[in-house]
Amino acid sequence: MLLIETKNELSSHLSSILGNKLLGLVPTMGALHEGHASLIKKAVSENDVVVVTIFVNPTQFDNKEDLKKYPKTLEADQQLIHGVSRAIIIFAPSVEEIYRNDVQSKSYDFGGLENVMEGAFRDEHFDGVGTIVSSLLKIVRPRRAYFGEKDFQQLQIIRKLVEIENLDVTIVGCPIVREANGLAMSSRNERLPKALRQKASFIYDTLLAAKEKFGTKSANTIEDWVTKQFDKHPAFKLEYISITDVERLLPVRKKQQNKKYRAFIAVYANEVRLIDNIALN
Ligand code: PAF
Repeated sequence: MLLIETKNELSSHLSSILGNKLLGLVPTMGALHEGHASLIKKAVSENDVVVVTIFVNPTQFDNKEDLKKYPKTLEADQQLIHGVSRAIIIFAPSVEEIYRNDVQSKSYDFGGLENVMEGAFRDEHFDGVGTIVSSLLKIVRPRRAYFGEKDFQQLQIIRKLVEIENLDVTIVGCPIVREANGLAMSSRNERLPKALRQKASFIYDTLLAAKEKFGTKSANTIEDWVTKQFDKHPAFKLEYISITDVERLLPVRKKQQNKKYRAFIAVYANEVRLIDNIALN
C-alpha cells in the first residue's frame, strides 16, 4: 500500500502504472469507518486501480471548533484501507499542498441545491466541498468517484459540479451503512457517550415511521409529526426535518407519481450534530 503526499508524486506514479487501466477515487476526510469501507470495496470491485484521499478540508468547516476537533487517525485509516486491499493508493496531502498560501473556497452556483438544508445551516459549506472535490478530481483524474448517500445533498451537488465544470467522471452514489441499532455511520458517532449512541436509533426509527406515513399523509403533516416526536425527546434537539424531491431538493407541494422523494434530518445529540436521510418512495 502506497502513501503519497504530493501531487507531483501522485501524477508520476499514476502515469507510470495506469495505461488503459480504470481508475476509481474515494475522497474522504479520514477517521474512516465501515461506511467508508463500503465505498472503498465498491471502488475496488469496479476499477483496476483505486486512490483513497485523506484530507480534512478546512474550507468546508463553517465552525472552526469542529475543524479543530476533527479526528486525525491516519494509522487506523491505513489499516482499514489495507484490510480492503493492499493495492490501494492513499493520497494524504497537506493543506499547503492543496491550497498553497490561499486557503479559500471558490464561489459556486449549484442552481439552488446549495441553499437548502445543510447549506442553510452551514455557511459556505458547499463552496468548500465544491472547491476540494473539483481539485481532487482534477489531480487524480479518475473514471469514477464514490460518495455516500448519507450526505445525499452533497452527492447531488457534486453531480452538479461535474456538470458545471464539464468533468469526465462518473459519480457513484453508495447506500448508507448503519450501526446495528440503525444509526447512520459517521465519524462523529465516536463523540457520543455510549448510552446516547444507543438511544440515537431514535433518529432512524423516526425516519422509518415517516416513510411509513408517506403513503397516506402530506409532507407537511409528516414534518410536523417528526418535529413533535423530537420535542418530546429530551436527549435530542431537531435542527431540521425536510421532505424534498431528490433532483432539486425542493419542498414537496403536491406529491407526483413520477418523482422520487427523500426525508432529510439534522439533529443535535449533546453538541454532536448528526444527519441522516431516507428514500420515501
Ligand atoms: O464527505 C466527505 O467526507 C467530504 O465532504 C469530502 C467529499 C471528502 C470532501 O472533503
